[in-house]
Amino acid sequence: MDFETVVKSRRSIRRFEDREIPREAMEKIVDVARFAPSWKNTQIVRYIVVADPELRCALATPECVFDFKYNLRTLEGATAIVLLTYVKGRSGFEKDGSYSTPTGSGWQNFDAGIAAQTFCLAAEDQGIGTVILGYFDEEAVRKVIDLPEDQALGAIIACGYPAESPEAPKRKEVAELLTYR
Ligand SMILES: Cc1cc2nc3c(=O)[nH]c(=O)nc-3n(C[C@H](O)[C@H](O)[C@H](O)COP(=O)(O)O)c2cc1C
Repeated sequence: MDFETVVKSRRSIRRFEDREIPREAMEKIVDVARFAPSWKNTQIVRYIVVADPELRCALATPECVFDFKYNLRTLEGATAIVLLTYVKGRSGFEKDGSYSTPTGSGWQNFDAGIAAQTFCLAAEDQGIGTVILGYFDEEAVRKVIDLPEDQALGAIIACGYPAESPEAPKRKEVAELLTYR
């Protein structure tokens, strides 16, 4: 797929086929995602793939998603749940632990966001559907999956082969988004 097609055809997918994602496909996706830019090339993002059906079930609970029904259903159907984590205290930080800029710790989530989109686009290119989930309770997730202490959970990405092809939600026009000074 050419770049514009990948970007414009990617949709958030919330219904998936009952078909596992091969490890090679996931490795290919991360191989592409690792080229996402990051603060001073700190490369803080990690991808923890939860493929084990029992663990996936344990994540698809009201506790883990603040009882957000939409996400519950999505997680129940996903064949891989990717926990996108980041190593804390590096992106946007000086070596002495102070913030590099007034944005403070916000650069960590900025890096996580770029990585998440790169991951989702790489998945789209492989025919694999994704949806980024922002409604999650990190502490509840930690009770299910033993996340490294030095990492925070940036996003959950539900993945699988698409069982739906939704229309693109309406986008703002270029004229509304782009200004020159
Ligand atoms: C940071 C972020 C958090 C999101 N959280 C959720 C979520 O919790 N549940 C969900 O179903 N979709 C979630 N989405 C998906 C958006 O709803 C979706 O990207 C948007 O409606 C545009 O649709 P599209 O991705 O198909 O272009 C999230 C997207 C982003 C970028």
